[in-house]
Amino acid sequence: MIIVTGGAGFIGCNFIRDWLGETFFVPDNRAQAGLLNLDKLTYAGNLKSLADVESNPQYRFVRGDIGDRALVGRLLAEAKPTAIVNFAAESHVDRSIAGADEFIQTNIVGTFNLLEEVRGYFAQLSADEKQAFRFLHVSTDEVYGSLGMHEAAFSEKRQYEPNSPYSASKAASDHLVRAYHHTYGLPTLTTNCSNNYGPYHFPEKLIPLMIQNALQGKPLPVYGDGKNVRDWLYVADHCSAIRAVLANGRVGETYNIGGRNERTNMEVVNTVCALLDELRPRADGKHYNSQITFVKDRLGHDRRYAIDATKLETELGWHAQETFETGIRKTIAWYLNNQDWVQSVASGEYMKWLDVQYGANDRSGL
Ligand code: NAD
Ligand code: DAU
Repeated sequence: MIIVTGGAGFIGCNFIRDWLGETFFVPDNRAQAGLLNLDKLTYAGNLKSLADVESNPQYRFVRGDIGDRALVGRLLAEAKPTAIVNFAAESHVDRSIAGADEFIQTNIVGTFNLLEEVRGYFAQLSADEKQAFRFLHVSTDEVYGSLGMHEAAFSEKRQYEPNSPYSASKAASDHLVRAYHHTYGLPTLTTNCSNNYGPYHFPEKLIPLMIQNALQGKPLPVYGDGKNVRDWLYVADHCSAIRAVLANGRVGETYNIGGRNERTNMEVVNTVCALLDELRPRADGKHYNSQITFVKDRLGHDRRYAIDATKLETELGWHAQETFETGIRKTIAWYLNNQDWVQSVASGEYMKWLDVQYGANDRSGL
């Protein structure tokens, strides 16, 4: 049994589906293990994203908070996991700028509480069980701050310089994980990944938001000059990298994950528009990129992220399988075929956020 936290979110649900399926990148003992998903089901967590696995006998869902020590302690005692994979977090940068309380609570305090319970559980394992146990913390490239246009990509040795409340909270959690390894000998692994995209991505994030707005004839709001660069990784590649690190990563180490797919935001939005023109042309014959609107920039907007994944590639033999071109085509096809999922996650809470972020001062009128 392994415990996954935050498994009803975007990356977690893709990870669970892969774990319970048969498409393992790394054959290892843990591949056969069952999986318990602990998720608070915030606005970003949705059980519809896991509807196809919920009756799998190897799968169990528990609604709860990683910061609830009594619950976490009970689950550890019952499930006796050989590994924890911690996805649970508040993940949207713009929301952290609008108000960081939940980010501090879940990403910092929640991770601390989880680590404390896992430390107690680990302490009473047998020597063999201790040898096998892993705590894998899923983190982000944003902890490294922003790169100049000609600077080398982030390696694991890069200094932490988080710039948003979100990235600062993730950086704090990474430091706690590091400290629990150094101080208590907890067998931790940390992964720092670049921007993911793919199925089940909540439509507050750039790519799914652009797809949905395009289809609904709404403005496509590009922040600032649209020249910020992100390094895009198809979500299945992130999941295979996590499995590789879990199976063979060196305890106490951090691994950067990325697929060398740097794109400006304008390149991304234009690609989305061109694929929609091909796959679902507008009824009036116009191009979707006519909906692009430049809006006020994000506060403190990091200019560029890029990941150097050499350590993961050379030590563990992992390589991304998708290019941006193949991954984005799959992603758009998935959204076109799964509009019912989008409608179901677009709850009242989601509509309220769109109003706060884009609607209030009508910065992006078409
Ligand atoms: P997400 O926002 O889609 O999902 C987060 C999940 O965590 C949701 O299911 C939510 O209900 C759950 N959750 C939130 N607070 C919780 C709590 N206190 N207890 C239990 N569950 C809680 O996020 P995502 O995009 O899937 O990201 C998952 C992880 O990967 C995060 O830690 C994020 O920082 C990291 N990450 C994301 C990306 C990306 O591009 N999305 C890239 C690198 C790293
Ligand atoms: O780099 C990894 C990170 O990637 C993860 O840690 C975060 O959890 C994840 O949300 C993502 O953060 P970003 O801020 O890079 O992703 P987002 O999709 O919010 O924005 C991508 C870029 O697009 C960024 O430069 C801001 C811009 N943008 C975003 C939105 C939502 C726009 O121009 N318009 C928009 O409406």
